Amino acid sequence: MSDIKIWKGNSTFILAAAGSAVGLGNIWKFPYMVGSNGGSAFVIVYLICILVIGLPVMASEILIGKYGRKSPINSLKKLSKDLNLNKNWYFLGVLGAIAGLLILSYYSVFAGMAFSYIFKIFPSGLENPSNYSSNYFGSLSSSPVILIFWHSIFLFFTCLIVGFGVVKGIGRSVNILMPFLFIFLLAVSAYSAYVGDLKSTLNFLFFPNFSALTPEVILSAMGQAFFSLSIGMGAIMAYGAYMPEKQVIGKTVLTIIFLDTFVAIAAGIAIFPIVFSNEYLEISAGPGLIFETLPVAFYSLPFGELFSIIFFILISIAALSSSISLLEPFTAWIEERKIIKRKIIVLLLGLSTWILGLGSIFSFNIWSEITFLGLNFLELLDYLTNNIMLPLGGFLVAILVGWLISEDFLQKNIKMNHLQFSVFKFFLKYVSAGSIVLIFFYSVL
Ligand code: PHE
Repeated sequence: MSDIKIWKGNSTFILAAAGSAVGLGNIWKFPYMVGSNGGSAFVIVYLICILVIGLPVMASEILIGKYGRKSPINSLKKLSKDLNLNKNWYFLGVLGAIAGLLILSYYSVFAGMAFSYIFKIFPSGLENPSNYSSNYFGSLSSSPVILIFWHSIFLFFTCLIVGFGVVKGIGRSVNILMPFLFIFLLAVSAYSAYVGDLKSTLNFLFFPNFSALTPEVILSAMGQAFFSLSIGMGAIMAYGAYMPEKQVIGKTVLTIIFLDTFVAIAAGIAIFPIVFSNEYLEISAGPGLIFETLPVAFYSLPFGELFSIIFFILISIAALSSSISLLEPFTAWIEERKIIKRKIIVLLLGLSTWILGLGSIFSFNIWSEITFLGLNFLELLDYLTNNIMLPLGGFLVAILVGWLISEDFLQKNIKMNHLQFSVFKFFLKYVSAGSIVLIFFYSVL
């Protein structure tokens, strides 16, 4: 047991897990998905999914990691052995470790783009900044070489941190990165709410309008909840293994979920007011929303250039604290075999992910015409991971913890009072597992 790594104090686990959860999912994806899925309807389904599925599944993942004190795969092996369950449950960990690499491969492409925007300064005196911006985004996404460059840089930093290990790499960097992120985000949202159209934004985000609700929207909202909370693939389970013994799971999960949701809404408030107040910008611009429209919005505003730089630094920090958790489950698993050193493992996994990322890069340009079921490589990976693999992972966690583990064992490890425990168990057992299945079949069939 001597090689067990555990973070000191309660805050590192919270920062690391919130760092994993808060990322491109909140600042890049949430706003554009809200924008293209009809606003408040999507937001409301998303929030419900966070509460009824996200909360219980996240608590269960932490529980498994904390009990096993190993990589998700080996924690699952230990759990099923100790409780006499089917020994194949560790496949759930394998599924997650693979999903992590698949997600990382395209995550790094978008994070690299965001990183590149820190250095992009629009020339002054432009007559038509919107035109300039879409031309610029067009030229960036049509150039495999430039995209590969930024993808490589981002992946390099991810591997560097994970290579340094759990305490020195991940623990230390989240302690530095996360406070910056919160401060920057508050600054940008306050600025945007002040100079932009806050009223239309609040209306769009919160005024109930269910006409836009379709099965597809519901599935996307659920997929987004999984993606944004980093659940269903073992990232949070892997971090659970480094959680101090005394830290209470229930309270910690509430804090993480609150932070994640707060950042997603704050990102909406940072972006929509300026989009609404500019007649050239389209709320439903899709994945290009923050790249194409935001620089234009910032362009015409006082101190806009400075805030644009701050905004893209913010996204890069958020992306980095998430990407490390995508790589950790696979890395930790191989490290436990004690054959190869962590740094070499990270190098090999990083290389494989880099190669896979080329497929997503080419989806913007040379492979854009190649599709399967109407989706290109990148869209296919996105659909497969968010709408299938993560919900499947979450469903299996809910079945394992909600149905197969004995009540005594659960209660002993999760440490909740009677009422909290009953609510948790009920939700996990029936509501979480049930709604994943329902939403999945409702939208696919
Ligand atoms: N939650 C991260 C985000 O919102 C992405 C992520 C998904 C990270 C799954 C780890 C695991 O950007």
